[in-house]
Amino acid sequence: MFRRVQSLLFGLLVVASAWFMSSGLFRPAIALAPSESLAQAVQEIEQLDVLRSGLAATLKDATEPPTPETMQEVCKPVGMKAKQISQEHGWQVKQISRQYRNPEHAPTLLAEKKALAKFRANPDLMGFWEPETVADQSGTRYYRRINVEASCLACHGSKDSHPQFIQDRYPQDLAFGFQEGDLRGMYAVFMPDLEPNRVPAYTGVAN
Ligand code: HEC
Repeated sequence: MFRRVQSLLFGLLVVASAWFMSSGLFRPAIALAPSESLAQAVQEIEQLDVLRSGLAATLKDATEPPTPETMQEVCKPVGMKAKQISQEHGWQVKQISRQYRNPEHAPTLLAEKKALAKFRANPDLMGFWEPETVADQSGTRYYRRINVEASCLACHGSKDSHPQFIQDRYPQDLAFGFQEGDLRGMYAVFMPDLEPNRVPAYTGVAN
């Protein structure tokens, strides 16, 4: 509950700062992604996080013992939804963790490793953004922490209590041994700068 309130307050803070930046009172020395994109990214990520917590809670409260099918319905859909958000907005939305289960979620760029270290060193830091260049494209990257909740431990707790399907499917799994409140990883959203000259020239032939 506290975490929800904290996320909500954090979201409000970001929306307020986005308004401030676009209000003309604030003149950044560096190019920032349009503030609406940032505010949108914050909202999308909050929804994505609520999706995961909701799915994990359903599993925890289930009266039936979980089957391999229901077991798979927690973090896989989060990854699929992240891809969908990327496509819809032209962003790159990733989940990143030093202790990853899916190797696609390993940190690769230096900036990602630094961001994880920053979250680790500052347990109250919920998120931040900074200018970044990814694959030769300049833009803004928004980072948001992911903490471990009690409902996550069924699949990210001790190695012995791991569901069998996880052991079979992720033989090099590193995402276990967590405790409630630990830093699990982060979401990272890269929003490329909009190029002023991207509007294509009119090439129609007059008749
Ligand atoms: C039912 C089992 C299950 C539960 C419960 C669960 N996870 Fe996961 N988690 C997984 C699986 C499986 C993956 C790998 C998914 C994939 O291949 O993308 C994963 C991946 C992740 C990742 C992506 C990084 C990585 O290691 O690949 C994060 C972050 C994550 N989980 C956080 C959480 C959090 C936070 C909770 C609780 C709110 C939670 N998980 C609950 C099974 C679970």
